[in-house]
Amino acid sequence: MGEEEAIKGEDTVEEIRRMSGYGGDVIAVGGFPASESEIGSGSESESESDLAAAEIMIVWAIQGPTSFAPNALVSQSSLELRLDACGHSLSILQSPCSLSTPGVTGSVMWDSGVVLGKFLEHSVDSKDLSFEGKKIIELGSGCGLVGCIAALLGGNVVLTDLPDRLRLLKKNIQTNLHRGDTRGSASVEELVWGDDPDPDLIEPFPDYVLGSDVIYSEEAVHHLIKTLLQLSGDQTTIFLAGELRNDAVLEYFLESALKDFAIGRVEQTQWHPEYRSRRVVLYVLEKKSKRWLADDSSLNQSC
Ligand SMILES: C[S@@+](CC[C@H](N)C(=O)[O-])C[C@H]1O[C@@H](n2cnc3c(N)ncnc32)[C@H](O)[C@@H]1O
Repeated sequence: MGEEEAIKGEDTVEEIRRMSGYGGDVIAVGGFPASESEIGSGSESESESDLAAAEIMIVWAIQGPTSFAPNALVSQSSLELRLDACGHSLSILQSPCSLSTPGVTGSVMWDSGVVLGKFLEHSVDSKDLSFEGKKIIELGSGCGLVGCIAALLGGNVVLTDLPDRLRLLKKNIQTNLHRGDTRGSASVEELVWGDDPDPDLIEPFPDYVLGSDVIYSEEAVHHLIKTLLQLSGDQTTIFLAGELRNDAVLEYFLESALKDFAIGRVEQTQWHPEYRSRRVVLYVLEKKSKRWLADDSSLNQSC
């Protein structure tokens, strides 16, 4: 944390920050310790609700998501999604029929999963990220594309989902990671958001937590944030890719998460150049840690 720079637009000031587990720049949404320019300036810190509302205004203004068709990077009616990643030709099996079952959403792929998976590959290639030997947990894995890519990039990944959604997930791991040339490893575990995670998931805490299209209803947000907090140690970095289909739900998530996390947005220029979508947004979250709060107070004292 620490480096910051102001980008002055016509009427917005976006602040660039760095986060510990990702080497690229992020646009600060909120929750960061005060910068040196802010300390002593007398400016009041904005509430979580103001920050969340401002972020929604900016993202909708910049990206205009409703002008673009959803599911541009996936075909949810086919039984298989093929995608090249990490030198492998991945074959992700889908179950389009299951999508008509109420509450079942992970039986097919979503754009944000493709965006997140290819962003991770691109960031490792650009040396902004290293997954080699890192403990990684994916939430709401669905068909498992993101977790498979993270394992191919060297991570030791636990892909998780609701208990009755694990069969397709296991099949996709077997189909794609069976050749013995995977740099990391992958296993599957049930994890229901809001329930206490198994000790093996948090002892030690993961280095990274991943999630794509997991912010999709207000009821789920509360449980999701509880799980994100339970999985977060002082060194844990979270990547969440969200679909821009409901501004109210995303605003509710940001407002709630900002109480405990610093949140930065990764600009599309840092995504994989061939896998960008105006209907997707990518956030990096890190828990406001004790270490950080201590750093902040020493910064205050020195001024
Ligand atoms: C929209 S799908 C996204 C799937 C996948 N991440 C992707 O991008 O293609 C949401 C996923 O979250 C999972 N999920 C929903 N509620 C959950 C909960 N309470 N606990 C754990 N997983 C949940 C669903 O089963 C589903 O796999």
